[in-house]
Amino acid sequence: IPLLLFALVFGYLLGSIPFGLILTRMAGLGDVRSIGSGNIGATNVLRTGNKKLAAATLLLDMLKGTVAVLIAGIASPEAAIVAGFGAFVGHIFPVWLKFKGGKGVATYLGVLLGLFWQGALIFAAVWLIIAYTTRYSSLAALVAAIIVPIALYIMGVHQIAALFLVLTIIVFIKHRANIQRLASGTEGKIGAKG
Ligand code: G3P
Repeated sequence: IPLLLFALVFGYLLGSIPFGLILTRMAGLGDVRSIGSGNIGATNVLRTGNKKLAAATLLLDMLKGTVAVLIAGIASPEAAIVAGFGAFVGHIFPVWLKFKGGKGVATYLGVLLGLFWQGALIFAAVWLIIAYTTRYSSLAALVAAIIVPIALYIMGVHQIAALFLVLTIIVFIKHRANIQRLASGTEGKIGAKG
């Protein structure tokens, strides 16, 4: 198989591991998809009230993106980019969950960490500032995801900027319901139980 196709499938398989679902099930908390926003990500795992599990979900959903990029990067920089795209797509459209996965934010950050860590710092800083001031996880992710491709472009990593422009568009599409709730003032705040 050609290298890039292999990198894409490899990234996809890693990315499609639904850690939020696995961890909440292992902890006996039932199906995280039946509470809060119904999402499998760390923000919604936090709505179970278990902070450690939410932190672990964030970390593992991130690291699967980072690991995919770093391993594929041994072969070539292009393979790293393709594997990162695969991991992100795998998280959002996992074949195991009938393609109904997460919203991609943690994996976006993890892929960015593997490809260009300075970009991940920017994402994390913006996310923390907006989340701290507004208590909206979704809003923090959306603002950070707008800034990242622009910042990457300005910093001269144009190939990575192009990838993240695409990932940002997908993040926005996956946050349609969140955007509607933000607009109508009904979005759940961080830590509020679902
Ligand atoms: O990372 C996902 C976050 O932006 C929104 O999560 O569960 O509030 O839809 P949720």
